[in-house]
Amino acid sequence: MNPEQRIEELSRQIEHYNFRYYQDSVSEISDFDFDKLLKELKDLEDKHPEFRKSDSPTQRVGGTITKNFETVYHRYPMLSLDNTYNEQELRNFDDRVRRGLDGEAYEYICELKFDGISLSFTYENGVLVRGITRGDGTRGDDITNNVKTIRSLPLRVKGENLPPVFEVRGEGFMPFSSFQKLNEDMDTLGENQYANPRNAASGSFKLQDSAETARRNLDCYLYSFLSDDIIFNSHEESLLALKSWGFNVSPGWRKVQTIDEVIEYIHEWEEKRTTLPLATDGIVIKINSFEQQRELGFTAKSPRWAISFKYKAENKPAILRSVNYQVGRTGAVTPVANLSDVSERDLDYKKVKGVHLSGTRVKRATLHNANEILRLDIRIGDTVFVEKSGEIIPKITGVDTEKRSQYITQAVEFPTKCPECGSELMRNEGEVAFFCPNDSHCPPQLKGRIEHYIHRKAMNLDSLGEGKIELLFDLGLVSTPADLYDLTEEKLLGLEKNIFNEETGKTKKISFREKTVENILKGIELSKTAPFKNVLFGLGIRFVGATVADKLASYFKSIDAIRAASYDELTAVPEIGGRIAMSIESYFSVPENQLLVDRLKAAGVQMESNEKPVELESNVLEGKTFVISGVFENFDRDELKIKIEANGGRILSGVSGKLNFLLAGANMGPSKLEKARKLGVTILSEEEFLGMIG
Ligand code: IVH
Repeated sequence: MNPEQRIEELSRQIEHYNFRYYQDSVSEISDFDFDKLLKELKDLEDKHPEFRKSDSPTQRVGGTITKNFETVYHRYPMLSLDNTYNEQELRNFDDRVRRGLDGEAYEYICELKFDGISLSFTYENGVLVRGITRGDGTRGDDITNNVKTIRSLPLRVKGENLPPVFEVRGEGFMPFSSFQKLNEDMDTLGENQYANPRNAASGSFKLQDSAETARRNLDCYLYSFLSDDIIFNSHEESLLALKSWGFNVSPGWRKVQTIDEVIEYIHEWEEKRTTLPLATDGIVIKINSFEQQRELGFTAKSPRWAISFKYKAENKPAILRSVNYQVGRTGAVTPVANLSDVSERDLDYKKVKGVHLSGTRVKRATLHNANEILRLDIRIGDTVFVEKSGEIIPKITGVDTEKRSQYITQAVEFPTKCPECGSELMRNEGEVAFFCPNDSHCPPQLKGRIEHYIHRKAMNLDSLGEGKIELLFDLGLVSTPADLYDLTEEKLLGLEKNIFNEETGKTKKISFREKTVENILKGIELSKTAPFKNVLFGLGIRFVGATVADKLASYFKSIDAIRAASYDELTAVPEIGGRIAMSIESYFSVPENQLLVDRLKAAGVQMESNEKPVELESNVLEGKTFVISGVFENFDRDELKIKIEANGGRILSGVSGKLNFLLAGANMGPSKLEKARKLGVTILSEEEFLGMIG
């Protein structure tokens, strides 16, 4: 079989398994064998790129980089819906519909309202050719490469009577489970966590690196079909057809005849929706008949044939039992409220189950910082209100002050000393958080820094984990990442400890047997080969997350250059601002940190970037910044990038006021050109650029 045929065969097989899995929930193949097929396909395509198709299943794992998303017009505008918040408003809507249809009989389709971002997908001859965000409803961003990573979205559809061109619309979302995992990762990475799954989905669909989008496990429910040809009579027909073509149609929809049945549907899903794996914030009702939809028409913003009903965020009373103060890796102190249900007021806190809220039991809620405590004017023993809306972390929204007189309450006193090490807490001007300044001895800060050092995106030491670190720390074997490199088999073998988890109330026994010790030591040895940018990130310098570490490493190339850099030299790096520069300077002003870096270096950890330095051909572009966009005749973008750097120029990631030149090829986005023009950036053609460097 020649490569072209094999590529075709593999693609068909993989899509078949995918379809069975997502459509029929049947696994006909093991994950291992599935990955093997995918790998064979990817290898073949890499060898024969001429046979790679735009709908190849390998697109699902991503790998393309989109520097700037092109703005494109929607073929049909993407409108929004009017909202209602109570039964009366819904009945008013129903009255308007009845009048609008002159007494004809009509039906509604009820659907859940998913809380994600609306997306539109265009299919030409059955092949997915474009995925666009809603944008302003008229124009959105072309995020085709990223939507192809949605595994349940068919890249090619087969079916009878498919129009040559059609659009399918739906809600792109991040399931709760992926959201939680992502936020945990963001937290350890020192990057900002997403407030809710909707923000996470929105951010993830707009990542430049589609491989990262693929890792975030986004999904999509489809809820409408559009084409120039009228091929369906009703919304119901279109949903059934979409389903039969292999689309992931939003589950739970129902056809009803009256507004009373709509209200019944609303009540039915009020609790049930909290058991779904994704966020929902209401329901949508739509007139079923397309003919009647056309009769009713649109207002300027929204259809007259559909409306949404929004559920109120669930808000319940709870008792504030006590407040804990958690010290993080950076020393920031976060107050956390311990809550119980009102019925549990007199129960010992250890036996408390918490408040039942949106499907889960809530025992703790963050109070963010000292200002929030003042703002809420909250007291221990108070009856407070807790809410879980789109956000995952429950919020305390207020205090029931009337109840206060019935019980003894006590002011919440923010500690003046670190609850872990007793140091006097401090607060920087302009910042809300109090922090413990004892960064070289405060236990949770030390442990936190080691945990950060072993993180997947830092040294990736997965043979160690939180529990093992705690054990090593408590026994005085490690208190900084450098101590890891002094561990030996003799020191580790036979160590044991029971570790109690406050959150779960469970005790876990950790013991270091031969195999464990071998893995730990192997992992530590291997970490010496981790690239410099990972080490730099692993140091846990404030504001130096993975992305910033990457930029610094490729600019300065070594830890010595970074530690010697002045504030001005640091801020000269594209996208490195004053806050980061100051944090780096202050990090290296601490003798313990200098010592840590020296010890890591002596242990053999990579403190230099081994990216090949670009050989300098000239310095005619010195001090000049460039963005490359579009397709070029003589060079590809990577070659142009090397040319620019070889002549002393620098590449920026986006068009901004700092940019000198936009190197523009064919097919580049009109919005980027427009922005460059507005900012007075010089736009260069390939020839003009070649002229510049002679
Ligand atoms: S239909 C003409 N159905 O809610 C509007 N929208 O404000 C057609 N949404 O932008 C939208 N679930 O992002 C429709 N089952 C559903 C939906 C849904 C969520 C979102 C969608 C839209 C917004 C409407």
